Order: sequence, then structure tokens, then C-alpha cells
Amino acid sequence: MKDQINWVYEHYLALNSASTPMSVGWSSKESQWERFKVLFSFIDNNSSLLDFGCGPGHLIDFIDEINYNIEYCGIDINPKYISHAIQSYPGKKFICLDIEEVTERFDYVVGSGLFCWLIQIDDVIKKIEFSYNLSKKGVIFNFLDRKSGLEPLNVYDVEDMKVRLSHLGEIEVVEGYLGDEDFTIYLKK
Ligand SMILES: C[S@@+](CC[C@H](N)C(=O)[O-])C[C@H]1O[C@@H](n2cnc3c(N)ncnc32)[C@H](O)[C@@H]1O
Repeated sequence: MKDQINWVYEHYLALNSASTPMSVGWSSKESQWERFKVLFSFIDNNSSLLDFGCGPGHLIDFIDEINYNIEYCGIDINPKYISHAIQSYPGKKFICLDIEEVTERFDYVVGSGLFCWLIQIDDVIKKIEFSYNLSKKGVIFNFLDRKSGLEPLNVYDVEDMKVRLSHLGEIEVVEGYLGDEDFTIYLKK
């Protein structure tokens, strides 16, 4: 599965410079930034953060733009993205890992666009549970909405996700920031 996911993303990377949102499959910087804005509406300044599925590390530019002091670590299963991230953001921590290999704890674990390709729903839930257990303050993930009609990308139903994640505690959902395309779930500790 990991090889297949990497194969899909390397297609984007082959066609676009790693400094662009298109290199991770986003259609524009505006849509990538809207997703980051919603993630960060739940994050306190002066926190530690694990960026799960960090790609080439674009979230660092957003954090700099909003002038937050974040102890950042990015992980991604794709070694090519990690190598671009290390080159582009010297001094920041990036590691080629999946979440189950992480042992350090963080205030927050976030994932933007992480579960868009190939992964089965049970594995999505397991990875969110693992992230939740690593976090001290909570986790924030966004999903492509079923209403977007963006299949064959993986799309998700808001109500179904709430039911599947309700055992983890308090859930907040944000919708509408990209029309029907996306929604974000915050699982608070
Ligand atoms: C749509 S891209 C988004 C990248 C970045 N979060 C952003 O918004 O710019 C999704 C990223 O998740 C990574 N990814 C997918 N499944 C993963 C997994 N199980 N563990 C770590 N990274 C994963 C992909 O390699 C890709 O870099």
C-alpha cells in the first residue's frame, strides 16, 4: 500500500516543482492555505506539533506567515518529499515515517490531505486513534467531502466520521470553507 501511495504522489512531484501546492496534489495555494487556516484555528501559539503527511513541508511557510512559535516535526512516508523538505527548511525536523513508528508526544497532531488516496477506512480510523494517543491537546484532520464528488479520490461522509470517531471524546467539525469540497475534524483532549 505504501508503495502505491508513493507512486501516486510521485506523479504529482514529477510534474510540479516541490515548492508548489500542486506537487502534493492541491489545485492552488489558496485551497491549501484555507485548509491550514482551519487546522490552526484550533492550535494555541507556543505549542509542539506533529505534521503527519507533511509533504515537502509547506505548513512551515504558513506558520511563519501567522508568526506562531511552534516546535514543529514533519513526517511523511515518501522519502522524496522528506528530502525536499529538509533542503527547503534547514533547521526544521522532518523524518520519513508513518505514524505508528512515532514514539515522541506532541501537543497536537495534524494531517492535511492525508487520507486522499487508496487507504481503507479502518486504517484511517486506526491512524487517527494512534495520533490521538500521541497528542496531549488533540488532533486535527481534514477530509475530502463525499458531497464533492471527487472520486476516485477517497471521500468521506461527515456524519459517518463522527460516529466512527465518537469513542475518542469531544468532536468539533468545520465545513464550508471550500464549498462542499472539504471538512475538518478536531478531536479535543
Ligand atoms: C495531499 S498531500 C498533503 C501534504 C501536506 N500536508 C500539505 O497539505 O501540503 C498528502 C501527503 O500525505 C502523505 N501520506 C499519505 N499517507 C501517509 C502515511 N500513511 N504516513 C505518512 N504520510 C502519508 C503523502 O505522501 C503526501 O505527502
